[in-house]
Amino acid sequence: MFLQLWSIAAIYILYCIKPAALYDVKYISENFNTFEYMNLSFSHGESPVWDHASGMLYWVDALQQDVHALHYASQKHKVKHINYGEVNIVMPVQNSSRLLVGVRNALFLMDWDKPGDSALRFVAAFDQGLPDNILNEGRADALGRFWGGTKGRQHGNNVIHDKGSLYSLEPPHFVPRVQLKPVSISNGLAWSLNNTILYYIDSLARKIEAFDFDLEKAHISKRRTILDIDEYWDDDVIADGMTIDEAGFIWITLMFHGCIVRINPDTRQIVERYKLPVTLTTSLTWGGPRLDDLIVTTSRRNMNATQLKEQPLAGAIFILHNMGTKGVPSYKFVFSNADNY
Ligand SMILES: *[C@@H]1O[C@H](CO)[C@@H](O)[C@H](O)[C@H]1NC(C)=O
Ligand SMILES: *[C@@H]1O[C@H](CO)[C@@H](O)[C@H](O)[C@H]1NC(C)=O
Ligand SMILES: *[C@@H]1O[C@H](CO)[C@@H](O)[C@H](O)[C@H]1NC(C)=O
Ligand SMILES: *[C@@H]1O[C@H](CO)[C@@H](O)[C@H](O)[C@H]1NC(C)=O
Repeated sequence: MFLQLWSIAAIYILYCIKPAALYDVKYISENFNTFEYMNLSFSHGESPVWDHASGMLYWVDALQQDVHALHYASQKHKVKHINYGEVNIVMPVQNSSRLLVGVRNALFLMDWDKPGDSALRFVAAFDQGLPDNILNEGRADALGRFWGGTKGRQHGNNVIHDKGSLYSLEPPHFVPRVQLKPVSISNGLAWSLNNTILYYIDSLARKIEAFDFDLEKAHISKRRTILDIDEYWDDDVIADGMTIDEAGFIWITLMFHGCIVRINPDTRQIVERYKLPVTLTTSLTWGGPRLDDLIVTTSRRNMNATQLKEQPLAGAIFILHNMGTKGVPSYKFVFSNADNY
């Protein structure tokens, strides 16, 4: 077994948290006793998702084109190499042993045990006619529809603006339906606990936004800003992944800043902020048997030798304990009879 968890003492975390000069943040760092990280480094960890029924954590390494699964209790870890282009999304499928995966600009149902191309069964393609576009982030809504979006062509850390869209996908035909266009880097998605609001991040819009959400009709409306990134951070910092806790507060990761921020979406205030000892924090989810571990993926993408030396944990997965709250189980993708598709 090559996967081990390493604990770090609280003092290290306190050292890593810099005082916030510009805005009032309530730290609960005294309760934030330890974090652990996996002794495995990913080039670009993304899309962490917890399957509460099976106690499995899934995530991807986008650039290595790998899908990972960790059975939390036994620490049994599996990897599947896709070899078909960038892999940014993995999601459990209701009543199925298959997983939904996003590879380049398309979604597939994936089998762990089948070799090569036969492991992937095509579900839908997005942004057809824009061959450089990539499906970037996706989540299932309370009815098991897929919601996710794309980003345009990327050079280094720069992505061409306004080339992507946000889509939803539902049975029986699974034809992508444009929900928002244009977007630049479609990223974090979360729904309010009562399913009346969709929270959304287009990273280059530099905002956390909200829409009224009609769950029955899969319809979004009344776009508004919950938090303006420019009010708090320099222009190299962007918002990336998002999740929600049982109090209905949203948690986001800030890329190029190594921070995790908790926001009260109703008052539009930042209520907590944590700094990790890396700068490229990509996404996060609640997991663990009590749903109270905050699991954060990170990246080493485009880091030079000096930066890698300064941040030996870049690319690790961090597991934060004692955050004072917990998550809610995530929804799975619904695709009837997926095992026989
Ligand atoms: C990670 O594990 C490997 C193999 O067990 C070991 O050689 C290495 O020192 C470990 N790295 C860290 C940072 O602990
Ligand atoms: C599918 O999963 C749901 C939710 O876990 C469960 O209620 C239902 O009984 C399952 N259906 C079948 C056919 O297994
Ligand atoms: C649903 O939750 C949101 C987010 O907390 C809140 O703003 C809204 O008032 C709630 N709606 C109802 C009908 O309770
Ligand atoms: C590495 O990147 C940092 C941040 O962009 C930069 O300041 C530094 O000069 C770079 N170092 C090398 C050796 O390229």
